Amino acid sequence: MTLTDIGMPPVQALRGDILSFHDDPFVHGIDASMRLQRDAVVAMRGGLIEAVGPAREVLPALPAGTGVERCDDALICAGFVDAHVHYPQLPIIGARGLPLLEWLERYTFPAEQAYADRAHAEAMARLYLRENLRNGITSAAVFCTVHPVSVDALFEAALELNLRLIAGKVLMDRNAPAALCDSAQSGYDDSAALIARWHGRGRLGYAITPRFAATSSPAQLDAAGALWQAHPDCHVHTHLAENSAELAWTRELFPEALDYLDVYDRHGLLGPRALFAHGIHLHEREYARCHEADGALVHCPTSNLFLGSGLFDLAAARRADRPLRVGMGTDLGAGTSFSMLRTLDEAGKVAQMRGAPLPASHAFYLATRGGAHALHLEHRIGSIAPGMEADLVVLDLKATPLMQARMAHVDSLEEALAVLMTLGDDRAVRATWVAGRKRHQREASAAG
Ligand code: GUN
Ligand code: ZN
Repeated sequence: MTLTDIGMPPVQALRGDILSFHDDPFVHGIDASMRLQRDAVVAMRGGLIEAVGPAREVLPALPAGTGVERCDDALICAGFVDAHVHYPQLPIIGARGLPLLEWLERYTFPAEQAYADRAHAEAMARLYLRENLRNGITSAAVFCTVHPVSVDALFEAALELNLRLIAGKVLMDRNAPAALCDSAQSGYDDSAALIARWHGRGRLGYAITPRFAATSSPAQLDAAGALWQAHPDCHVHTHLAENSAELAWTRELFPEALDYLDVYDRHGLLGPRALFAHGIHLHEREYARCHEADGALVHCPTSNLFLGSGLFDLAAARRADRPLRVGMGTDLGAGTSFSMLRTLDEAGKVAQMRGAPLPASHAFYLATRGGAHALHLEHRIGSIAPGMEADLVVLDLKATPLMQARMAHVDSLEEALAVLMTLGDDRAVRATWVAGRKRHQREASAAG
């Protein structure tokens, strides 16, 4: 192997233990899906991964003078994918004590009104992306607010960092404060203009974003469906079956629908690249239909526990004979942590409560390739392999004194991953690489 450098952008390389998924462990088993390469090198050029393999093979093939960064006591993984999050809700993280509908009214809707102001939106967008990088999150599907300027602010900041990011303007034309409402027509027009401005620029993608069934009229859902039909390579991003009061309300508002998922289906909002946050309270018909239509669910455990929404049934969602696409979401600001490791930990506890333990290796799949799969982007991100986009996170296995002490007692990769997701947080993210450029480096060793 030789990596020639004549007239090419420079190569950068990381050397260490590389952990990656190339298939779905829920369907094919962990041995056929996960690969740990010890003392390996990943070489990156022009934003893509150019080579991955044993150090003794890749190092001699690197162009002379290539910088090779050593990653000892660490795992090099694909960057984390946050498949559902609200960047405008940073100022209400931890606003306590209410179930979903009351929480929306008391905290969320007031906070979102501030995003009519571009300066506020820009400041929050920058803070949001910086926190993502500190936590190893290199891609996300993001709710903005009803204001187009909230989308412009986020996409502008993401474009500067060359992030792969999916986002969209919220559509709401009823059951919300007037200051946060658009109309079926203006929501359509504003979204179409944002698609023209942003979709496909850099690594950005647009998501048509009706907030949830209850805040859109049938006319608005129809308009959203028509917009998707006109732009089928966009995503649709919404909420589904999160809370029992929401379910009862949705039944009242859409009495003709078979169930919650059918509301979206009837309005042309179910298909490949439809992304449904939560999906806690689903019937078998809805799992089967979502699988058949190739939609995706996003599991947001910290949010589900914080709002008391319920326990996501991961085993049902990922049943091997009809595995739905499932990603992990922080769902900030109902979610309580930017850290994907903290999020995986909570997913593990929810799975325990469901009586179906989640192996740590499967959890890491969900945070990387699983999230990419949920976004229909598994051919671009979520794995470390030649040709994939070079989004990486370097996870420090000994980030704290406690982790260091605990890691001395692990006797398998599975156990090391379990410790990482149990004790790890932003301190365990040593570095984050986006499209082949280092965008975050943790300052000093937290282990001291
Ligand atoms: N359902 C409708 N809107 C929201 C939101 O902002 N957060 C959550 N968790 N659920 C929702
Ligand atoms: Zn949400």
